[in-house]
Amino acid sequence: MDNGLMIETKDLTKNFGDFTAVDGIALAVQKGTIHGFVGPNGAGKTTTMKMLIGALRCTRGEGYIKGYEIGSTPARQLIGYSPEQTFFYKDMIASDYIAYMARICGVKREDARKKALELLDWLDLGNFSESKVGGFSAGMKQRLSLGQALIHEPELLILDEPTANMDPTGRLSILDKLRQLAQEKEVTIFLSSHILSELEQIVDFMTMIDKGQIVVEGNMAELRKRFSGNHFLLKTSHNDAVMKAMKAKGLFREGWIDNEDFIHLISDEATSLRREMVAAVARIGAELEHFSEERATLQDIYRKTMGMEEE
Ligand SMILES: Nc1ncnc2c1ncn2[C@@H]1O[C@H](COP(=O)(O)OP(=O)(O)OP(=O)(O)O)[C@@H](O)[C@H]1O
Ligand SMILES: [Mg+2]
Repeated sequence: MDNGLMIETKDLTKNFGDFTAVDGIALAVQKGTIHGFVGPNGAGKTTTMKMLIGALRCTRGEGYIKGYEIGSTPARQLIGYSPEQTFFYKDMIASDYIAYMARICGVKREDARKKALELLDWLDLGNFSESKVGGFSAGMKQRLSLGQALIHEPELLILDEPTANMDPTGRLSILDKLRQLAQEKEVTIFLSSHILSELEQIVDFMTMIDKGQIVVEGNMAELRKRFSGNHFLLKTSHNDAVMKAMKAKGLFREGWIDNEDFIHLISDEATSLRREMVAAVARIGAELEHFSEERATLQDIYRKTMGMEEE
């Protein structure tokens, strides 16, 4: 039965001797989404990914790629993987390497080279297709690794820190390409990264792990809302009067006016606060210049979850 999931695991666990690196995780990655996998160093991200691609056997639990058991041939064929540490033979020519990977994946000899060149072009490595990989910068190697992962047109991309070692321009270009793959080719992307501000720009869903266990997961829109703590922003022509009226109602937990004349109100109960804000503005006859609800960033969510809240 199709449950709409590209990746599903139950109680997935990996022990290295007495040490539990991944501790009973239940992952659910919906088809066609970009799903971020975040957590501190040593949290178990790479180990989880290696189990998903079938490179590491799990100690306990189970996992499926589009319904196929992890490690099985049909499951592996669905996946393109770019590892955390790339390794290339330094004397290999970029296009030969990608064409070679294409051949391994069953692409016909006459098509392999053409496909390799197209892919290198798309990755902005077209000018280096006949260069030796040994001379590539870290960022170029990472792009080459993405090329290798994409050569058989996988339905699922598992990328372990695909933008590490890259400069900001290179990173943005990779993120752009990932977005393009998701939108135009409906590729499901499961990626880990420590660069939360960038990850935030492309992920629809997020799973956060710590010490081998899932600590937060969900849809980004829902998580942003959940972690925002009902923080409202408004600006009116009569800020002081509005603030006074709101204070009199005692509907907010914290409130202040910032130096750009925005009123900030934080409440435990959003519905009545929202209703009263509208009523107060109307009663006073103030002009409403701005109203919005603050959304937590991925970084805010990370900090709150990992217990790194300031104060
Ligand atoms: N082959 C192994 N043998 C023993 N311990 C291992 C092995 N591989 C990983 N570990 C341990 O398992 C834990 C999880 O490692 P993992 O590489 O999965 O973390 P990670 O979340 O990918 O971290 P990072 O963000 O640094 O890449 C770490 O404590 C690591 O030392
Ligand atoms: Mg890792």
